[in-house]
Amino acid sequence: MNVLVLGSGGREHALAWKLSQSKKIDTLYIAPGNGGTQNCGTNLSVDPTDFESIKKTVTEKQIGLVIVGPEAPLVGGLADFFIADERLKAIPVIGPTKAGAMLEGSKDFAKAFMQDFDIPTARYRSFTKSTLEEGKSFLETLQAPYVLKADGLAAGKGVLILEDIDTAKQELEKMLSGKFGDASATVVVEEFLKGIELSCFCYTNGKDYVMLPEAKDYKRIGEGDTGLNTGGMGSISPVIFANTEFTEKVKNRIVEPTIKGLQQRGINYHGFIFFGLMNVNGNPYVIEYNVRLGDPETESILPRIKTDLMDMFEAGISDSLKNFELEIESKFAVAIMLVSGGYPEAYEKGKIIIGLDTIEDCIALHAGTKKTDKGIMTSGGRVMAITSFGKTMKEALEISLNNAEKINFDKKYYRKDLGFDLK
Ligand code: AMP
Ligand code: GLY
Repeated sequence: MNVLVLGSGGREHALAWKLSQSKKIDTLYIAPGNGGTQNCGTNLSVDPTDFESIKKTVTEKQIGLVIVGPEAPLVGGLADFFIADERLKAIPVIGPTKAGAMLEGSKDFAKAFMQDFDIPTARYRSFTKSTLEEGKSFLETLQAPYVLKADGLAAGKGVLILEDIDTAKQELEKMLSGKFGDASATVVVEEFLKGIELSCFCYTNGKDYVMLPEAKDYKRIGEGDTGLNTGGMGSISPVIFANTEFTEKVKNRIVEPTIKGLQQRGINYHGFIFFGLMNVNGNPYVIEYNVRLGDPETESILPRIKTDLMDMFEAGISDSLKNFELEIESKFAVAIMLVSGGYPEAYEKGKIIIGLDTIEDCIALHAGTKKTDKGIMTSGGRVMAITSFGKTMKEALEISLNNAEKINFDKKYYRKDLGFDLK
C-alpha cells in the first residue's frame, strides 16, 4: 500500500521514520515534509490544507491511507472532505472529522464536553463581549493565578496566566475585544490547577483504543523552565510518575469517558487523541485536548513503539483494535530539540548543518530543515530533535547531549536540563 503523511515538522519526521520500517508500505509519501523526511520516503510539495491538491495527489499516487500530522487540516475538515467524495471515501484518514477536531479547535466546546461527561478538568465559565461584566465577577470567585483561554486556535499563544485580578480583568476585556482576533471572541476563564503536566496519547477508531507511551514536554526556552514559551524544547518518555495506578485513572476517568462521549454525540473519530494532563496530587485533570500527536512528544514516544504502526492502523480500520497491544521499549527516550539562536523570537534561517554523519546511537528527527545544493540547511526555529535511549533518563539525556554537540550550525541552542523536574 502507498501511504501519505501530511505535515512538515519533527512529529512528521518521527512518523515517517517509523513507517519507513514497515514492510506493509510500498511507497511512503510526505507532504510537504522536510530535509529529514526525504530519507524515509518521497517528499511532495503539497499544502496539507489544500484539499483539492491532496485529492489529486491521492488519486495520482494511488494512496491507500492518509495520516494527518497537524491539526489545521482536521479542523478545516479534511476527513469530512474524504467521506463526502465518491473517489476518496474508501480511503481511511487517520485524523478525526471536523466535529471531533472541535476538541482542539474550540476550548469552550472541549470544556462543555468534559463537563457533560464528568471528565475531570478545571472549574470554568465561558464569556463573550456581552457577558464581560459577568466574566469579571466570575474572576472574583477564583483564586490567583487566573487562567484565560482564547476559545479558538491562536497559534499556541491564546492562554494567559495572570497573578493579579485587575490585570486579569483587563486582559479578559482585551481578549474579548479581539486581542487574538476571532479566536478570542469567546474566552474560557478557569481555575488554576497546581501540579505537574504530562502528555498522554491514545489511538482510537471511535470504538476501541490503544494507549501510546506518555511523555513530558519542555515548553520554555530557558533551563529550569524559564523564559518564553516555545513550540517545545524536547521531550522525555516514559514519565516516571505515570505509574500503573495513575495510568489506570487516566484510562478510566478520562480516555474511556472521552471516547464514549464522542460516540454519544455521534462524532466520527478515527485518529489520535492527545490528553494534556495535570497530575494534581496523583489525580489526572485535563488541561487540553489535541486531536493529533504532540510535537516534540512524538519524537520520544514513537521510537519506543516496537510494533509496526501499520498493524495498529489496520486493526483500527478492520475493527479489531479491542485486543490489540503495542509492544513498547521499556528504556527511556530523551529527545533534545536543537533550535536556531533567537528562537522563539526573531532568528535566522539558511544555516548549513554539519556533523549529521558523525552522530551515534541516536536518531536525528528533522523539524525545520531543507535539502539544498549546499547540503542540509536550517529553515525554521526548531531545527531537529536528537532522540536517544538509555536505561535511565540520565543516560538517555547524556547520549542525546553528546550527539547534540556533534551537530553544528551557526547560533545553535538547546536545553541541557530536560527531566530536571522528574528526579
Ligand atoms: P493550553 O493551550 O490549554 O495547553 O494551555 C497552555 C499551558 O497553560 C498549559 O500547557 C499549562 O502549562 C498552562 N495551563 C493551562 N490551563 C491551566 C490551568 N487550568 N491550570 C494551570 N495551568 C494551566
Ligand atoms: N507539545 C504540545 C503540542 O504538540 O501541542
